[in-house]
Amino acid sequence: MKIKLHWKLTLIFCSAILVGLFIGCFFLTSHLTQRFEDNLMTDLNYRLSLGKNFLESQLSSQNILPDPINLANQIGKEQNLRATIISPDGVVLGDSDLSAEEIKNVENHLHRPEIQEALKNGGGKSTRYSKTIRKYLLYMAVCLKKEKLAGFLRYALPVSYIDILKGEQTKIIIASLILVFLLSLSFTFVISLVVSRPLVEMGKIAQEMAKGNFSKKPDPYGQDEMGDLARALSYMSDEVKDKLDLLKQETVKLDTVLSSMFEGVMVVNEKGRIILMNLSLRKLFLIDFEPENKAAIEVIRNPQIHDILEGILNKKQQIISEEIDITQPREKILRINAVPIMKNEKIIGAVLVCHDITEIRRLEKIRQDFMANVSHELRTPVTCIKGYAETLLDGGLEDKERSKEFVNTILQNSNRLETLISDLLDLAVIESNKMKMVFSPLDIKPVLERSLGVFKKSMQDKKISLTIKTSENLPKIMADDKRLTQVFVNLLDNAVKYTMEGGAIKIEISCNNNMLQVDIADTGIGIPEKDLPRIFERFYRVDKSRSRELGGTGLGLSIVKHLILSHKGQIWVQSTQGQGSTFSFSIPHI
Ligand SMILES: Nc1ncnc2c1ncn2[C@@H]1O[C@H](COP(=O)(O)OP(=O)(O)O)[C@@H](O)[C@H]1O
Ligand SMILES: [Mg+2]
Repeated sequence: MKIKLHWKLTLIFCSAILVGLFIGCFFLTSHLTQRFEDNLMTDLNYRLSLGKNFLESQLSSQNILPDPINLANQIGKEQNLRATIISPDGVVLGDSDLSAEEIKNVENHLHRPEIQEALKNGGGKSTRYSKTIRKYLLYMAVCLKKEKLAGFLRYALPVSYIDILKGEQTKIIIASLILVFLLSLSFTFVISLVVSRPLVEMGKIAQEMAKGNFSKKPDPYGQDEMGDLARALSYMSDEVKDKLDLLKQETVKLDTVLSSMFEGVMVVNEKGRIILMNLSLRKLFLIDFEPENKAAIEVIRNPQIHDILEGILNKKQQIISEEIDITQPREKILRINAVPIMKNEKIIGAVLVCHDITEIRRLEKIRQDFMANVSHELRTPVTCIKGYAETLLDGGLEDKERSKEFVNTILQNSNRLETLISDLLDLAVIESNKMKMVFSPLDIKPVLERSLGVFKKSMQDKKISLTIKTSENLPKIMADDKRLTQVFVNLLDNAVKYTMEGGAIKIEISCNNNMLQVDIADTGIGIPEKDLPRIFERFYRVDKSRSRELGGTGLGLSIVKHLILSHKGQIWVQSTQGQGSTFSFSIPHI
């Protein structure tokens, strides 16, 4: 049960006050009772001496009291107590509580303790049960003397009467104590409330602080301990707020860094549950839900990644760097680096960084393939040249007919080498973006006509018909004359090369939207569907030996593609095997 502070303080104060009051009450009542008894005795003694003086003044010359019954009644009435007048030999002469008849029957009082004591000391007292009036009484007696003993005056007071007086006195004391207690209770309650109020307020402020609300500050409660506490709380609030702001900034920084990272990052705790996963990793594994607090293996269902995490968390390895191939959700090659997070030499989690190296590996493969292709393409004509040259030297020169044939082959292969080297150089320059292009407004038709001139003879030889379809007012394009010619030459070369005798080439130049489109269609051998996506790759040829025979290098289309792209254009192909191909490109016009 929660007891509020001011109630606790009230309870403590009240208990202390109560204990104090009880002790005080005990001492006060015993002291006052004593004082009361003393006062009563003094008062009775005084009243006794008054009675004694009065009676002694009434003594006759014979030392006798006239009419003692009346005198006793008079004194008893005046003093409001029982007065008895006794003769020196103990005979009761008068009694304020008894009639004259009763007095006669009263026994001798000489041996009563108070009378005996009075005889000895002039005065005496005694408390005992009175058979006459059936009550406990306090008796006080004094000698009456003129020249010699004339008798005794005795007062009797019921003890119960004294007790009643004492009881009343105690009642008054207790009533005042209760009053004091009630007053102090309300007083202490108010004081406790005042004392505990700042604490209660500071408690509320601390609770607000815990919820992240730092706007409330405790009032400055003076220079005492409460003030110190309020100032400390205020200082703490500022400090915590600053630290939290700093922490937030750091978190934002970390978030920004993590989310802008190309690498995937995941942090797990010692149980393998995800604490953090950045955007790249989520994208990589197509995670569209919040992965935090879930087991890593449930989120990334890859046994190799799971093994790496296990290895780190179970202290099998300190650092793991592995290359893995994944098939889900997409085929990728990943390099995974994982390290443990240590605290007091204990592993409390692991960090896993995931690099997508698919593209790097792909480019590496392309480079390797390219090198292999280049070496192969160069070796073939060089071997041929070398072979024929050796044959000529080994006596082949004597046979004039054959030597001419050999030299022709050497020349053919040298030309082939030259074309290959020239294409390779072109490609290298284009790919390294070092090709100098001079863009100027250009009419496309003269460029086409100039290019067609190169193939006039070969087309005639192969009886290939040519159709050109253009509109009159074609807009100009921004292009490099020499490079655009190179594009036409390459595409026309292919069209002529891969079209059989009697075939047809149809060229159409059209203008749609803001592009100028050129379609070069032939009725040649066509390209199989499976080869179409790769036709613009370097050295990619449908039929290598056929291409080589026809003097091709396999670099033409890839050079064309690069050139078209540098003109901000696009190139594509449509083809049906055995029926023909249509190579199309578009370049923005002015
Ligand atoms: N018009 C075409 N008809 C059929 N196949 C073609 C045509 N143009 C290109 N090709 C195919 O594309 C390949 C690549 O062409 P290219 O890069 O110009 O190399 P090359 O002409 O030196 O063989 C050719 O080997 C050929 O298989
Ligand atoms: Mg070609």
